[in-house]
Amino acid sequence: MRRILIVGSTGSIGTQALDVVERSGDLELVGLAAGSSWPQLTDQAARFGVRRVALADPDAAARAAEHSDVDVLAGPEGLVELITDADCDLVLNALVGSAGLGPTVAALGEGIDLALANKESLVVGGELVTALAEATGARLIPVDSEHSALYQLVATEAPGSVDRLVLTASGGPFRGRTDLDDVTPDDALAHPTWDMGGKITIDSATLMNKGLELIEAHHLFAVPYERIDVVVHPQSIVHALVHLNDGASLAHLGYPDMRVPISYALHHPERADVPVPALDLVEVGSLTFERPDVETFPCLRLAREAAAAGGTAPCVLNAANEVAVHAFLRGELPFTGIARVIESTLAGLPAEPVRHFSDLYEADAQAREVARGVAA
Ligand SMILES: NC(=O)c1ccc[n+]([C@@H]2O[C@H](COP(=O)([O-])OP(=O)(O)OC[C@H]3O[C@@H](n4cnc5c(N)ncnc54)[C@H](OP(=O)(O)O)[C@@H]3O)[C@@H](O)[C@H]2O)c1
Repeated sequence: MRRILIVGSTGSIGTQALDVVERSGDLELVGLAAGSSWPQLTDQAARFGVRRVALADPDAAARAAEHSDVDVLAGPEGLVELITDADCDLVLNALVGSAGLGPTVAALGEGIDLALANKESLVVGGELVTALAEATGARLIPVDSEHSALYQLVATEAPGSVDRLVLTASGGPFRGRTDLDDVTPDDALAHPTWDMGGKITIDSATLMNKGLELIEAHHLFAVPYERIDVVVHPQSIVHALVHLNDGASLAHLGYPDMRVPISYALHHPERADVPVPALDLVEVGSLTFERPDVETFPCLRLAREAAAAGGTAPCVLNAANEVAVHAFLRGELPFTGIARVIESTLAGLPAEPVRHFSDLYEADAQAREVARGVAA
């Protein structure tokens, strides 16, 4: 049995991971954590016989402790303690946002293998996070569908034989449109192919999601940014592509279902059954590809610029994006304001070198303050 712990178990990835665990005979859940959804978290603990949970929101933790007999740890430090005390084989980090950095550092610092859905950890602290994994020998197994695909595609390739990586993007609900001034949160939340949490769904609509994934891919596969391409592929069947030095290109295909990459990460290097139909290419009919429209969707350009600037710039990009997306979801910022807030925040905070995780926490806090000012 592989002992696993899931942080972010109440979210879209987290609940799909529980479905994978429930169907698997090889996985034992030893801990669960979330932000504030205490009734759902304590129900999950009861369902899976988990004795210890953590909630980042201290009030929610107090209510969970009052209403259930599980051991409840409180605050962001409670999530870290849950991980460092758990004696587990693998942590799945399914938190959303830069709040995921603490659990990522805790798991890798303890030498525990990490299944990483929380791409923001790598966007914010890519160099330090990958160096930490290397230092402790912990494996970093991506859960993002494109990166899971790339991980599988490059696994048997010799270093030096990979020329380019290609990330595919669905294009989101506004693909083909150029006037986005009046789109509402409901319009932006209606993703055509993937059913995901609110923040990543908005990131998909702005194409920031692909910008974050570009930075994630750079850190996971040590490929320079200029050799990572983004292609819009509305059917979301081809998840990623690798061009090799002998002219061959390898692609990873499948119906869009996150349980596939989640199951791969939780069982790696084995594979387990997932109830997803085999891909029927005749039924799919055609696979189409187009270039991303970076004029209408400037977030992808902003992510490339922050990636090229390096240092704290990707952390600032991410923090400004989180502030802007939440302001948009609350109806306080127009859709097109998201990119404007990020661009102004990046312009106001030039990239600084990153020597320690504390530099990142400081840059994140500063960027949030500047972004809130711009968004107001
Ligand atoms: N959803 C997908 O299909 C998908 C695909 C690829 C990659 N990802 C990535 O996976 C991650 C999770 O995405 P999601 O769609 O599953 O998000 P989600 O549905 O919004 O779930 C987020 C989870 O994080 C918890 N959380 C939120 N803020 C927190 C905080 N400050 N401290 C501790 N826990 C907190 C939430 O707990 P509460 O319920 O208590 O708020 C919930 O369990 C993101 O990085 C996303 O980019 C998602």
